[in-house]
Amino acid sequence: MLFFNVAIVALIGIANAVPSVHRNQARQNVTTASERLGLQWIGGNSSLPKILVLYTGGTIAGGSIYGALDDTQYGQLQLTGEQIIARNPYLANHTQLAVSNWTSSDFSTGTDDGLVMNMTRFAHDALCSEDSDIDGAIYTHGTNSLEETAFLLDLLVNCGKPIVGVGAMRPWTHLSFDGDANFFQGAMLAADPDSRNRGVMVAFNNRIIPGFWVTKLHSTNPNAFGPTALGDLGAFINNMPYFYNTPSQPIAKHEFDLEEVSSDPSFPALPKVDILYAARGFDGKLVLNAHANGAQGVVIAGTGNGGIPSGSDEIEEALEKGLQVVVGTRSPFGPSTPSRVPTVAKAGFVHVIQSRIMLQLAIASGYNMNQTIALFEGTLRKAIHQPWSPEP
Ligand SMILES: *[C@@H]1O[C@H](CO)[C@@H](O)[C@H](O)[C@H]1NC(C)=O
Ligand SMILES: *[C@@H]1O[C@H](CO)[C@@H](O)[C@H](O)[C@H]1NC(C)=O
Ligand SMILES: *[C@@H]1O[C@H](CO)[C@@H](O)[C@H](O)[C@H]1NC(C)=O
Ligand SMILES: *[C@@H]1O[C@H](CO)[C@@H](O)[C@H](O)[C@H]1NC(C)=O
Ligand SMILES: *[C@@H]1O[C@H](CO)[C@@H](O)[C@H](O)[C@H]1NC(C)=O
Ligand SMILES: *[C@@H]1O[C@H](CO)[C@@H](O)[C@H](O)[C@H]1NC(C)=O
Repeated sequence: MLFFNVAIVALIGIANAVPSVHRNQARQNVTTASERLGLQWIGGNSSLPKILVLYTGGTIAGGSIYGALDDTQYGQLQLTGEQIIARNPYLANHTQLAVSNWTSSDFSTGTDDGLVMNMTRFAHDALCSEDSDIDGAIYTHGTNSLEETAFLLDLLVNCGKPIVGVGAMRPWTHLSFDGDANFFQGAMLAADPDSRNRGVMVAFNNRIIPGFWVTKLHSTNPNAFGPTALGDLGAFINNMPYFYNTPSQPIAKHEFDLEEVSSDPSFPALPKVDILYAARGFDGKLVLNAHANGAQGVVIAGTGNGGIPSGSDEIEEALEKGLQVVVGTRSPFGPSTPSRVPTVAKAGFVHVIQSRIMLQLAIASGYNMNQTIALFEGTLRKAIHQPWSPEP
């Protein structure tokens, strides 16, 4: 009898539980990521792809009070994301756009690890949550650090949806502003179903450049960006993306867990990692000073294939104190290849600027020096048949 009662109670419990689960699900589905995050869609044609605009400003937002010839001393005038969209009527025939403002008060978003990480968490939530109704994103950025944000997003936001970096080399007051075309092309790239599973990309000067390899190769020319390895992924023809190859990802790319990285004490930023540039007379005390100044890691832009002219005693001392050291190359192209017996991590083909971010993410994920060596050197060691284990 007692058993019978318990069984009835259990059955009633199940009968009540089932519809309530359905109710909860129906209620959950009422909210889309756009609604939850308060995004306002511009465009009006609800059957077009929804592209989120992560707006950090940059030259693409900057104007000059010195006239149409100035392309180095601008910045006195500003455009909002909504104003850039309003300049170009073609956008609304191809996409719906919503602006999320990540401008810093001094218009230098790209220089702040904490702000860029906050934007990364927002992008991950908007694109990768179960309730996401968004097809892709573009981020506008100052060109000086556009590649740093590209690489960071590439290692942290990986649910297949495209994220495209865009910017400009000339202010909107210029004779020949490049920002409208770059912005449009970036939006077309983010809206293209063929862009899925290619990682972060940069749309610049009619080129589609992989976010993992992209770097600023020229300080003032509108054709400012290129990859340090691989090549372009494609080109824009009539402002529409054309890919040369089917989707692929860099062998050396490691996807980090955003939640794990965000649980590091450095939250909302990332661990402090400095870059040191090696040259004749390199002073090893710089490495010790970086550690004393709070750095948890340093990346050394080594000579040639990851050489360091001097300072090996100080580097050894810093390693003993717990500093992590990665050695890349100051050459614009080519690798810094593994030693037979490693003591520091050689960066492989990963550029020094990108190596800094990869080391920050490794430290934030709890890697020790040996695990960092395996992270940076693993794929190259496999290729040259010199495997190495981080465990003794
Ligand atoms: C609500 O979302 C859940 C999880 O994403 C899904 O399994 C379910 O089918 C959705 N329900 C409706 C009514 O769309
Ligand atoms: C909205 O976009 C769809 C898909 O491109 C197109 O077929 C349709 O004509 C557009 N509607 C309007 C009102 O422009
Ligand atoms: C947008 O599409 C409509 C319908 O195809 C067309 O009439 C209009 O000219 C287009 N606008 C632009 C700016 O291309
Ligand atoms: C964007 O945010 C910055 C910094 O908080 C603020 O100064 C600026 O007014 C905002 N822009 C818009 C269009 O809301
Ligand atoms: C980042 O977001 C955190 C809250 O999650 C906030 O406390 C912090 O001020 C933000 N940092 C910046 C630089 O915006
Ligand atoms: C790092 O690797 C070396 C060589 O395999 C080993 O001797 C050392 O114990 C390792 N250190 C840690 C902390 O695992």
